[in-house]
Amino acid sequence: MTMPAADALLQVTDLASGYGRAQILYGVGLELRRGEVVALLGRNGAGKSTTLKTLMGLVRARQGQVTLLGRRIEGLSPFRICRLGLGYVPEERRVFAGLTVMENLEVARRPARTGAPTWTPQRLFELFPNLGRMRERRGGEMSGGEQQMLTISRTLMGNPLAVLLDEPSEGLAPVIVDEMARAIAELKREGLTILLSEQNLRFATAIADRAAIIERGTIRFTGTMAELFANTEVRDQYLAV
Ligand SMILES: Nc1ncnc2c1ncn2[C@@H]1O[C@H](COP(=O)(O)OP(=O)(O)O)[C@@H](O)[C@H]1O
Ligand SMILES: [Mg+2]
Repeated sequence: MTMPAADALLQVTDLASGYGRAQILYGVGLELRRGEVVALLGRNGAGKSTTLKTLMGLVRARQGQVTLLGRRIEGLSPFRICRLGLGYVPEERRVFAGLTVMENLEVARRPARTGAPTWTPQRLFELFPNLGRMRERRGGEMSGGEQQMLTISRTLMGNPLAVLLDEPSEGLAPVIVDEMARAIAELKREGLTILLSEQNLRFATAIADRAAIIERGTIRFTGTMAELFANTEVRDQYLAV
């Protein structure tokens, strides 16, 4: 086993989980260093969402450790994990349909956190100019892409140390995908640490520093994006490209 890097923000070791009698994750290991973007890549059904849900405590870890800044978090409730600084944007967009953009952001506001960027609606509107033009619009009256941006913004209002983004480009129109990529790159420049799951290799390549490939609940490859590109065998075997 490799030693954890000194600057590891999130360290995942030998993680197993599943649903009922079905085991889905088998000994997943991952490391997220401060300020980096890591893409968790894999085909549909490979275990990407389950990995993120297990890190958030939404699916119980049956084995293994999850360490956030040196503190063990596996076994804590999703609420506690969120309060400790791990933000989560699920696949299905979650906005309050009856609340306006501004209200959706205000209800998610949390105190500033040492070691993490501090977000305000104003700063988020710079990140997502679209949202700034529809502050009074209700969540239920927005497009899928706009709801996705609002969901990310709501998560950021908690001033997380790191965010887990589950397939942020999924189901978005190409022009919105580009806007999302630009926003995530901007978040990285702000110093946010990001773990995102993706099936879209092009999208991941545009923003990630490193990739981990998951297949049938096991990590099959970890390396830089350049290493992944050089490895056609791994790409052909585990990714639908
Ligand atoms: N709530 C659930 N109950 C039972 N099986 C599930 C549930 N959610 C996902 N699975 C199964 O777990 C496996 C991994 O799914 P998932 O983590 O959603 O993959 P991905 O996000 O990579 O597409 C799949 O076989 C899927 O059918
Ligand atoms: Mg998924």
